[in-house]
Amino acid sequence: MAEPHYDWAGFGFDTRQVHAGEAPEPGHGSRITPIHLANAFRFESFDQTHGRFAGTDEGQLYSRHLNPTNEVAERRIASLEGGTGAVVVGSGTAAISSVLIALLESGDRFVSTASIYSGTQILFDRALKRLGITVDYVWDPTDEAEWAAAIHPDTKAIFTETIPNPKNDIVDIGFVAGIAARHGVPLVVDNTVATPYLIRPLEHGASFVVHSSTKFLGGHGAGLSGVIIDGGTFDWRATDRRYPLLTDPQAPGVPSFLDRLGTEQAFESYLRLTVVNDIGPALSPFNGFLLQQGIETLSLRMERHLDNARTVALWLAEQPEVESVDFAGLPGHPAEALAERLYGGRTGSVFAFTVAGGLEGARVFIDRLQVFSRMTNIGDVRSMAIHPGTTTHLSFSDEKRGRLGIAPGLIRLSVGIETVDDLITDLANGLRAVRDAGLVPESLSLTGGNR
Ligand SMILES: Cc1ncc(COP(=O)(O)O)c(C=O)c1O
Repeated sequence: MAEPHYDWAGFGFDTRQVHAGEAPEPGHGSRITPIHLANAFRFESFDQTHGRFAGTDEGQLYSRHLNPTNEVAERRIASLEGGTGAVVVGSGTAAISSVLIALLESGDRFVSTASIYSGTQILFDRALKRLGITVDYVWDPTDEAEWAAAIHPDTKAIFTETIPNPKNDIVDIGFVAGIAARHGVPLVVDNTVATPYLIRPLEHGASFVVHSSTKFLGGHGAGLSGVIIDGGTFDWRATDRRYPLLTDPQAPGVPSFLDRLGTEQAFESYLRLTVVNDIGPALSPFNGFLLQQGIETLSLRMERHLDNARTVALWLAEQPEVESVDFAGLPGHPAEALAERLYGGRTGSVFAFTVAGGLEGARVFIDRLQVFSRMTNIGDVRSMAIHPGTTTHLSFSDEKRGRLGIAPGLIRLSVGIETVDDLITDLANGLRAVRDAGLVPESLSLTGGNR
């Protein structure tokens, strides 16, 4: 693989989001990474061709597993998350399935926190189940006994998210990493909503990080993508659990990935060459380019997202038409202390609130919005609102929705980077419409502010 132009290790986050992983373009001196739409690359000789296939000559071969445009995004994200390497794929869902298929095979189990993104639950409960991989859910991630009961001898991974949505029920990654370490299981953390600007799960003991870079990393709402980052620290041989595709020779006389590349590099190479290459969730280099364009401004956008979200959450909590606000950074929230410790009270910009009037209140509110877009997706510059009960969580049973706290009046917001006063005016118009429709009970009107 191409060497980076400079080694950007040790530079600040803002410098690395612009420069880390960039490679020189000697042909024309293009300052930004060109879009290499090539499917495949020419070899200089018969021997080089063989070397590329044998893995003795590093370099481009075929874009299903490595592409020069995408490689810059991989290096940049690995740098921001503090990993040893990264692999980009076509979506966040592809990133999650790829890392789990790398760790698990038919007959294996893994444990996940229960409040993860609804689409990821559907992946676990439908597609992975069909492959013979079983998920066990933990409902209270602070309960060590529940974790211990969920981890079986054939459990080979733990999965969680830093800031789950819609409920903003933040997870203490260091605590979960401690449990994973005690059981000798790698911890995979979806850091989509927090981004490495807010938290770097590898620093808290996670083994791998995944992103739907469709969201905040890209930031523009143009182009799906996903990424898996390897922390390079999981000790594959120090655990009783077996990962033979990584630790054992796959053909007589051929050293295993681990023996050839060591703990720091083995997983990235294994994932790239024998999972992503075999299954084929490749990222279009065009989307890889868009992803890089987005990452360059991540810290600036996040600052605005975080400030706007906190302002909106505090304002919503004072409104008489609002029954409750699910934002962990709010004063009085049960997770306030954790929110303060991990995030300085700024727990991302995707959270929920419950409007008076239940389903009808939600309908009236959402139909009145103008600046907030009625749409799924989170984490682009635009503010968005959706009613989880009739959309993202529609396929869940009433019982499961109830257990997850998805009330009929619950609305999810992804707060964008627009002028915050305009966002509040838009929300105020929606709440006034709920009141005008006679959906706010007298008791709520009198309390004048609800947390
Ligand atoms: C936290 C989280 N992870 C993963 C995904 C899946 O990402 P994608 O839509 O890029 O497949 C999403 C999508 O909303 C998400 O919110």
